[in-house]
Amino acid sequence: MNDLAGKHIVLGLSGGIACYKSAELCRLLTKAGATVQVVMTEAAAQFITPVTMQALSNRPVVTSQWDAREPNNMPHINLGREADAILIAPASADLMAKLVQGRADDLLTLMCLARPVERVPLLLAPAMNREMWAHPATQRNVAQLQADGAVVLPVGQGDQACGEVGDGRMLEPPQLLDLLLAHFQPKVLAGQRVLVTAGPTFEAIDPVRGITNHSSGKMGFAVARAAQEAGAQVTLVAGPVHLATPWGVKRVNVQSALEMQAAVQAEVGQATVFVAAAAVADWRPANASDQKIKKDGSGLPPALTFVENPDILAGVAASERARSGALFCVGFAAESHDLEVNAQAKRVRKGVPLLVGNIGPATFGQDDNALLLVDEHGCRAVPHGPKLALARQLVAEIARRLAAGHG
Ligand code: CTP
Repeated sequence: MNDLAGKHIVLGLSGGIACYKSAELCRLLTKAGATVQVVMTEAAAQFITPVTMQALSNRPVVTSQWDAREPNNMPHINLGREADAILIAPASADLMAKLVQGRADDLLTLMCLARPVERVPLLLAPAMNREMWAHPATQRNVAQLQADGAVVLPVGQGDQACGEVGDGRMLEPPQLLDLLLAHFQPKVLAGQRVLVTAGPTFEAIDPVRGITNHSSGKMGFAVARAAQEAGAQVTLVAGPVHLATPWGVKRVNVQSALEMQAAVQAEVGQATVFVAAAAVADWRPANASDQKIKKDGSGLPPALTFVENPDILAGVAASERARSGALFCVGFAAESHDLEVNAQAKRVRKGVPLLVGNIGPATFGQDDNALLLVDEHGCRAVPHGPKLALARQLVAEIARRLAAGHG
């Protein structure tokens, strides 16, 4: 996805072993459509060469405030004015300390001090040894930087270059890209608490078998991510899928429809929006066997009987909070044909104001989808696109309805 098309990012590197990750980050930013101007401190150039960063960004790297290539000789002013965001990755302990003090004895700190605070966001990706990160001086600096309007991104946890293990690693480039993308999303769901179900459910027949469906969970995970990017507090109740949890989202893993229902009931009291994107199995074996069912030699299959699962969405939509307007419910409909007619009928049956129709067999497991938004007035097609892009449009639609009192 060309999510950063038209954006100009100043990528600052201060000195730290994590500079080796900045090369990959630069590539990801340009692949996402951004133009990238790299600014490096002298210390950063000890860890990775400007040659590498120039080749990856396709622009000469700037390292000095005395760079005579700028016609007005003021790179510290020009660089900041042109940027849609300044991302410093890695941000060393020393760099952050300097920013806190407003010091400006090299180009990177000088540019940060000169940046128009209201217009150009400054994001810092700290990277340091765990003792340096935990030191009260660093933590004080982080708090002060945030108070001064910088966005201090989280640090990773794990093995460090020094051989120690703990907090302070720089996040991996794909995570930094995701956080930058999130930063650019409008915060239309700020203050909302969104509960999302996603994926299939698995209904056990015995300890080694069960019935499930082809839902990959991608659409529900995309909705959770888009809601989080839009500023909501998000809980994701996920059936059995192998997808990474979107950044900043609380995940509750479940297997069966009954477990999903219990997890939803435990969380929904706090929610202001409920999006049911899960493909819940309609039936479960009436009596799951505790032991593996063996062939008995008769050649006949075991006689399985099924019972219907509870309708999680319809149950929530019928609750007092949903009916009073305190909770906005959105359903999904996976259909194989006659999408509009089936989706509208399902919306009424489930008792939800908004239902998102899609053609199940065409979308299961895919990265792309097309949606049909159905409400009491009719329907609107959201054309084919990546699931994350569609999820962002759905989030914007939900936000519009919340702002209009659900109309
Ligand atoms: N849903 C639910 N609990 C169920 C079944 C469905 O919460 N037991 C929710 C889904 O998460 C989705 C919506 O209801 O938001 C519609 O799901 P879908 O599987 O398309 O519809 P069904 O109700 O199963 O109807 P049918 O199988 O007849 O199409």
